[in-house]
Amino acid sequence: MPALIVKRMMALALLVAGCATQAPEPAGPPTFTAIYEMLYPRATKYQCNFCHGLPANEKSNGMLSTGMDQATAYTALVGMPSTGAMCQGLVLVTPGDPDASLWFQKFFDPPCGDRMPLAGAKLNAAQLDQVRTWILEGAQDN
Ligand code: HEC
Repeated sequence: MPALIVKRMMALALLVAGCATQAPEPAGPPTFTAIYEMLYPRATKYQCNFCHGLPANEKSNGMLSTGMDQATAYTALVGMPSTGAMCQGLVLVTPGDPDASLWFQKFFDPPCGDRMPLAGAKLNAAQLDQVRTWILEGAQDN
């Protein structure tokens, strides 16, 4: 067998082995309930409540308080403009338009400030898709 093909097969085997040990977490349904439970409570690995559950305070959470429950978070996010120093005026969640939703952009390519969760784990592709789909489908309180 030519050496190049052997090398390619070994690379593929390594890739498959790597994926097997790091299976991405499956994403839940594109509902606000599932997304909230995935991201906000302190028990999750994303822990948005750790900073954004606090009252709005520019130093610790960019003036974005989403409270400590799902209903408060929904009200604080959907259709609301950012009041933070860096992202002022950008809408956090624009129903039907993920590209015009700062809250979504913050997960991977923020137009201002840092990626969220600050210093925390990144959402995987399936989770990003879950959030994108929820917004595309109208960001309903579901
Ligand atoms: C360790 C604290 C911390 C955690 C955890 C955290 N954030 Fe933040 N967040 C901040 C700070 C500080 C800012 C302001 C600076 C910036 O925009 O980068 C901010 C800004 C934001 C903004 C922009 C707010 C605005 O109105 O301009 C969004 C949206 C946001 N965070 C979403 C999230 C989400 C969603 C999570 C969980 C996945 C999360 N953050 C986790 C500290 C945190």
